Amino acid sequence: MKFFIDTANLDQIKEAQELGVLDGVTTNPSLMAKEGITGKDNILKHYVDICNIVDGDVSAEVVATDFAGMVKEGEELAELHDQIVVKVPMIKDGVKALKYFSDKGIRTNCTLVFSPGQALLAAKAGATYVSPFLGRLDDISTDGLNLIAEIRLIYDNYGFETEILAASIRHTMHVIDCAKLGADVMTGPLSSIDGLLKHPLTDIGLAKFLEDYKKGNS
Ligand code: E4P
Repeated sequence: MKFFIDTANLDQIKEAQELGVLDGVTTNPSLMAKEGITGKDNILKHYVDICNIVDGDVSAEVVATDFAGMVKEGEELAELHDQIVVKVPMIKDGVKALKYFSDKGIRTNCTLVFSPGQALLAAKAGATYVSPFLGRLDDISTDGLNLIAEIRLIYDNYGFETEILAASIRHTMHVIDCAKLGADVMTGPLSSIDGLLKHPLTDIGLAKFLEDYKKGNS
C-alpha cells in the first residue's frame, strides 16, 4: 500500500518524508488556499517545491472545467516535473481529458469520485489513479469504505490497472480499513499516518526494558 500525504504544507510533507514511508503527495485547490498559496506562478512554484521534497507522485489539480482548458492546464502541469500527476475532476469533459492524457502518456488522478460507476468510467478512460472520497461519504451518513470495496471488486473483475487511491481519509482506522480492503494507495493528513505508530503497550514495554537495562548496568 502506498502512503500519500494530503496537504500542501511543506513542513508536514518534510516530516512525513523524513519518516521514510512516504510515497507521494496529493493537493487540491482548497489545500493550496489553506497554505496561502495563490496566483498561478506561486501555485506552479509550490508544486515544484513539493516535488523537490518527496520521491514519489505529486497530484496537481486542474481548475479548468472544459476539455480544452483541462488539456492546456494539464500539459503545463505535467511539464513542470516528472513526478507530477494531473488531477482531473470526474465530470464529462474530465473523462475526455483523462482519455486524452492517457493516450499521451501523461499520468492522471481522477478526483471527486463518489460512486462505483464513476470509478468504472475513470478506469475505462485510462486514469492512473482513481480517488474515491470516503470521508466525505461518511460525512453524509453513507458508507465510504463500502465504495472502496465495490471499486476493488469491479477493477479485479476486469483487471483494470487504475490504482485505487483512497482519499478524504480522516483518521488512522480509515487507513487500516482501506488496507484490509486492498486499496492501492491512501492519502490522508499526517495525523492519520502518525496514529499508526501508537500503542500504549509499546510505550509501557519500552519503559520497562530501559528501566531493567539501567538496573542491570548500574
Ligand atoms: C484527495 O485527493 C483530496 O485532496 C482529499 O483527500 C479531500 O479530503 P477532504 O474530504 O478531507 O477535504
